[in-house]
Amino acid sequence: MADLHPVVAAVHGQTRSLQTSSSVAMAKEADAPPIAKPVLLKKFEIYRWDPEHPSEKPHLQTYSIDINQCGPMVLDALIKIKNEVDPTLTFRRSCREGICGSCAMNIGGGNTLACTARIDRDASKSLKIYPLPHMYVIKDLVPDLTNFYRQYKFIEPYLQQRETPKDGRENLQSIEDRKKLDGLYECILCACCSTSCMSYWWNQDEYLGPAALMQAYRWMADSRDQFGPERREKLQGPFSVYRCHTIMNCARTCPKGLNPGLAIAKIKKQMALE
Ligand code: SF4
Ligand code: SF4
Ligand code: FES
Repeated sequence: MADLHPVVAAVHGQTRSLQTSSSVAMAKEADAPPIAKPVLLKKFEIYRWDPEHPSEKPHLQTYSIDINQCGPMVLDALIKIKNEVDPTLTFRRSCREGICGSCAMNIGGGNTLACTARIDRDASKSLKIYPLPHMYVIKDLVPDLTNFYRQYKFIEPYLQQRETPKDGRENLQSIEDRKKLDGLYECILCACCSTSCMSYWWNQDEYLGPAALMQAYRWMADSRDQFGPERREKLQGPFSVYRCHTIMNCARTCPKGLNPGLAIAKIKKQMALE
């Protein structure tokens, strides 16, 4: 190897000695026992009701857990309680990524997803967790979503066409038309919006609610769908879109940042123009 210039050689030597001392420091760090985090107990007050014990009234049960030994989200705390403290605690969850919508519940007074809601690190405040409000409860934090899904089915959430493209070709859509679906297609049907809507609370047998109505609009806004007028006709009546009074609880609570109230307003506008 050619001789190095004395300055370059000095720099190389320094680098080598720095690398050596930093590797030693890293090795020492790895050998050192981990510093235990102090115990940080936080109270979780969780709604409990068991259909197998119907004489027992619904109540809040308090669990204290060390949030320094727990993941950062409310769902992490629920899983820790179920795994380590009380296996009877019942709740829904699947993806842990804010995608499936199954862990929707009322946390600290607002409807949201347990897997994307951070635990408030202030241990002096307890956290209250209830099922989604104004729904029948199957057990603990699990609401009965049968009616919610029936309403989703009612809006016929699929592409409908009188004529399909010839020769088995695909349905083309311009970039501009595709953009019209942004803010609509991202809905994960978690039901946070519908169960925060006062009109839905009092009339959910008849009023479709913001989630189903926004999905109805998602198909009206799709340039490939040819049944917009029929879809709107189905929504006529005092308990359909007109139960929405644009209070916007739905938009405030949506964990995906969507705005069902705006979609409902657009349906009303299209109806008014027809
Ligand atoms: S609009 Fe938002 S809150 Fe409502 S069901 Fe869809 S994702 Fe959930
Ligand atoms: S804007 Fe309409 S759908 Fe949304 S919460 Fe208010 S009444 Fe319900
Ligand atoms: S577990 Fe899927 S959205 Fe929370």
